[in-house]
Amino acid sequence: MALTETALNTDLSVHSTFASRYVRASLPRFRIPENSIPKEAAFQIITDELMLDGNPRLNLASFVTTWMEPECDKLIMDSINKNYVDMDEYPVTTELQNRCVNMIAHLFNAPLGESEAAVGVGTVGSSEAIMLAGLAFKRKWQNRRKAEGKPYDKPNIVTGANVQVCWEKFARYFEVELKEVRLREDYYVMDPDKAVEMVDENTICIAAILGSTLNGEFEDVKRLNDLLVAKNKETGWETPIHVDAASGGFIAPFIYPELEWDFRLPLVKSINVSGHKYGLVYAGIGWVIWRSKEDLPDELIFHINYLGADQPTFTLNFSKGSSQVIAQYYQLIRMGFQGYKNVMENCRDNMVVLKEALGKTGMFNIISKDIGVPLVAFSLKDNSKHNEFEISDMLRRYGWIVPAYTMPPDAQHVTVLRVVIREDFSRTLAERLVNDIQKVLHELESLPSKKVSISGDGKVVVKKTALETQREVTSVWRKFVMERKKMNVVC
Ligand SMILES: Cc1ncc(COP(=O)(O)O)c(C=O)c1O
Repeated sequence: MALTETALNTDLSVHSTFASRYVRASLPRFRIPENSIPKEAAFQIITDELMLDGNPRLNLASFVTTWMEPECDKLIMDSINKNYVDMDEYPVTTELQNRCVNMIAHLFNAPLGESEAAVGVGTVGSSEAIMLAGLAFKRKWQNRRKAEGKPYDKPNIVTGANVQVCWEKFARYFEVELKEVRLREDYYVMDPDKAVEMVDENTICIAAILGSTLNGEFEDVKRLNDLLVAKNKETGWETPIHVDAASGGFIAPFIYPELEWDFRLPLVKSINVSGHKYGLVYAGIGWVIWRSKEDLPDELIFHINYLGADQPTFTLNFSKGSSQVIAQYYQLIRMGFQGYKNVMENCRDNMVVLKEALGKTGMFNIISKDIGVPLVAFSLKDNSKHNEFEISDMLRRYGWIVPAYTMPPDAQHVTVLRVVIREDFSRTLAERLVNDIQKVLHELESLPSKKVSISGDGKVVVKKTALETQREVTSVWRKFVMERKKMNVVC
């Protein structure tokens, strides 16, 4: 949840044109209204405001699912009033989550006996899954250090500098030092050799990513495993690996089955995956699977009985919705292996179409890889006149949401644009997007470029582009109108 902004810069009341049929007074924006309003009015006011959100289907910034079949939408709505944590009251929902855990564990080649149950849990997303996996590593490391009579107050974790922010959150919230392997130009993922070099006796695990958020690339988990096996042997340490397969976990098993990244590698002790990314479920579901019971310390599991029978829980939040768990089960049985394979192959094909079309413009360097998450990350060959942020900004006018960002250290001088290909991004949309990118490029050509000049007192002055000047004028104007509205509070 984003922290709320201060109320000071915004209008204090909410108005809705259509809802004025039902209500004439404006609603206070930041205080609960004194009186009720008709349900039609509430509906209309909110619908009108939400119209200004972006269109999720054109949101090419996100890996998260934006389309599901109407049958699954119905299942979701039918179970929207069930609290997942009431396991004794909703035993079937609990059973469906257990089936999902087992199916995913088998998909990741967990070494399970014929009738052995997998160890894992459904979460709100990969971030919660990573917090839980990280806690398990931290506790296991501490227990071992205590048993050896060694200090256990300086745990660290080794990752690439390309990790998603949830790893930084884990490190800060749970007091673990984050040791990041720096990137370099043309190498935007964790270098396994450098990662293993950074491991010391206080390292609770190395986290590898199957599908880097920044360019979709799969890190080389096999090489990491092999190097770490050798280092563990030499030092006597038992440093394990966690794989953050937030995106790749529902891609690699289907279209790169020969790639060894999962529990086939002995040091991989836990894996997280986002059900709401390529698991094809709407936002609100992730999974963490442990290799075996021994990898999840018992003392982290809470047992509650006040809702009925004894229930073991290992989650950060207590209550949560059941719908996403049910939706995940729907997708797993509805799609089956072949269905997921078809979707992932199609995404990959669309990624290739987009990549080639962007390549043909002659304007971009492609910095994503063909094997990885189906996305295209690209940067301007020449950004001395106009940059990727301007392209991202101007694409908004056509309805496209394509983020631009700079790479982490030591590749921070590289800026990229990224288009994520999801199931609902068709080839026609890919062609349309390239057309619009070309229009933007033409438009930019006709705009004056950002130029640097030296002022009379010797200071470097960056002249604003026409677009930046236009934005600045709009923002001053908007502020002026808001101020006036605050004074008058008129509808
Ligand atoms: C590699 C990686 N890990 C973790 C996350 C966090 O996932 P979630 O949004 O499911 O919490 C993301 C999100 O994009 C990601 O790309």
